[in-house]
Amino acid sequence: MSLTENRAAAGGSRRTPEALTVPAPRGTCPFTPPPAYERARRHDPVARVTLWNDSPAWVVTRHDHIREVLGDARFSADARRPGFPFLNEGREVLNSGAPTFMRMDDPEHARLRRMLTADFMVKRIDALRPRIQQVTDDLIDRLTARRSAADLVADFALPLPTRVICMLLGVPYEDHDFFQRNSKIALSNTSSANEVDEARHILVAYLVDLARSKGADPDDGVISRLAGRGDVPAEQVAFTSLLLLVAGHETTANMVAMSVLALLRDPAQATRLRERPASIAPAVEELLRYLSVVHAGLPRVATEDVEIGGRTIPAGEGVLLMLNAGNHDDDAFPGADQLDLERDARHHVAFGFGVHQCVGQSLARAELQIALGTILRRLPGLRLGIPFEELDFRDEMLVYGVSTLPVVW
Ligand code: HEM
Repeated sequence: MSLTENRAAAGGSRRTPEALTVPAPRGTCPFTPPPAYERARRHDPVARVTLWNDSPAWVVTRHDHIREVLGDARFSADARRPGFPFLNEGREVLNSGAPTFMRMDDPEHARLRRMLTADFMVKRIDALRPRIQQVTDDLIDRLTARRSAADLVADFALPLPTRVICMLLGVPYEDHDFFQRNSKIALSNTSSANEVDEARHILVAYLVDLARSKGADPDDGVISRLAGRGDVPAEQVAFTSLLLLVAGHETTANMVAMSVLALLRDPAQATRLRERPASIAPAVEELLRYLSVVHAGLPRVATEDVEIGGRTIPAGEGVLLMLNAGNHDDDAFPGADQLDLERDARHHVAFGFGVHQCVGQSLARAELQIALGTILRRLPGLRLGIPFEELDFRDEMLVYGVSTLPVVW
């Protein structure tokens, strides 16, 4: 884990009461953001820190400031710019070795992103709902046919979005052990730079091969379409597919597992939701807000001096936007540390904000609504198979979640 020293004094007179580290450790509640981010939001919402490689960066924790930065083109998402704030060496290796449009600016970003918008638009995803429901029912059938206990991560939360993204991209699902193993290494903060580089290499080589073979023998998946365009080099097809494959299963899988856990911890709200299945859509927005599984801080770099919340962020310095802290900002969501499935949480920043806002959000919403709705309906007696205190939370991963979720029904 890369730690930072507190250099709040370097940026002005306001100080956090205790040293701010990035990433900061969680407190006793595994659902709420690290207490240090909460303190920073109250006392020093645009806080200066020094990163593992001695570069300065600013940690932004208020909901309004986060949207301000993400909506301001003077902050760049281009990981090739000097001063871009990498959370550790592994992140730096991953971003420089496989440059994707997530870490580029317009017009380069917009050109590559536009090639995918049709595949992930609401109408297209709505048409996919019956197939997502079918995959979900199939997984639940298998669970209930064999036994009355399971690991909800390995047996449901992970295979569901993995099967769906494989189907959309045209990646053989049989290869899931291979790419899940490697993406886990690539996304872990505890992997060394060499391990990340090796995992990235293996995944890119696999996807370059796949793109080439699809070029010769196309199917109706996204990879075939990108490879068949002729204006995207095979390597960029592979980088884009890698982004979709990894973003498409890691995030949703952890959201499914954490959402089930949050519902198990709050049976009264789970019962109300089971009785009113039509409220699943707003409930999912609240779970996205409350759980904020993308917990590592979205990175940007200032391209000129910009004032945010009364602090001047100098050109060339990095910014880390703590989505979990913004989503738990009481000014935007009164009583933010409480899960309230009846709240209107649509202005959450769990999918980011601005031009880089998540491409896959309609897909993620459909998967979450279907997965949680089906679990509530088909497994009404679901409960934890081990004491809550024994669960292992994935603090060291880029996407937060639980490693395993033993359940019985
Ligand atoms: C609950 C699930 C998900 C969450 C919480 C989530 C969250 C996010 C966030 C916070 C960003 C913004 C990154 C930034 O601005 O730096 C993002 C971008 C992105 N997400 Fe998701 N995501 C989810 C599911 C998905 C899925 C299912 C896919 C693919 C099918 C996907 C593909 C992408 C892509 C390609 C980008 C980059 C967009 C751009 O830079 O223009 N995500 N996501």
